[in-house]
Amino acid sequence: MEKYKNLLEKGCCNFEITDSKILKSLEEISKSEYFEKENWVRLRWSQWGIQFLNNEEALDFVNEYKDLKEPSQVYFQVPINKNDNVHTKTISDEIKNYVSEAYGLKESEIHPPALTLNVYLNGFHIQNHRDGGDGGASRLSAVLIYMNECEGGELVIHGGEETIVPKFGRVVMIDLTKHDIEHAVNLIKGDNPRIVLVSFVNKS
Ligand SMILES: [Fe+2]
Repeated sequence: MEKYKNLLEKGCCNFEITDSKILKSLEEISKSEYFEKENWVRLRWSQWGIQFLNNEEALDFVNEYKDLKEPSQVYFQVPINKNDNVHTKTISDEIKNYVSEAYGLKESEIHPPALTLNVYLNGFHIQNHRDGGDGGASRLSAVLIYMNECEGGELVIHGGEETIVPKFGRVVMIDLTKHDIEHAVNLIKGDNPRIVLVSFVNKS
């Protein structure tokens, strides 16, 4: 299908969600407890996951260490229970649809996608990396759905040949079968964090 052409040929594609039912579910998720700051307590710091008692302590840690360490690859991870409600289920199913359409797989061949909300704060960025595809043995695709607009925070792919700007309802798919492309995220500026719904989709 045309919308996945670049995914299969170059390792990454992006498109915007136009289906009103799917957009409605995204909006509902953006109004849910997952978006409440007090639930942002688990930080990903490089390869480490650090759980804090509350958001204030996590932010204290971030601010204290921000100037000491390269401020890269640090963000909040908020796991979303895909079976929580009709909206989380709708989005997980929709991500499964994208992957099944793109790779020509039956729905039964794809593991029901887990969902995580990643929140990237002002002053941070993500350096060039790959997400560790295994040649298609189990990992298929990383699917990102932007949940808001922010200043900076663009996804940089193909060595800067293309940048993708965060916008509510924009989807990015990164191939983890044969391409596993390098990608980076530009410095986040301004008051709005970069909030992305992320799913690594595997074969079942
Ligand atoms: Fe990545």
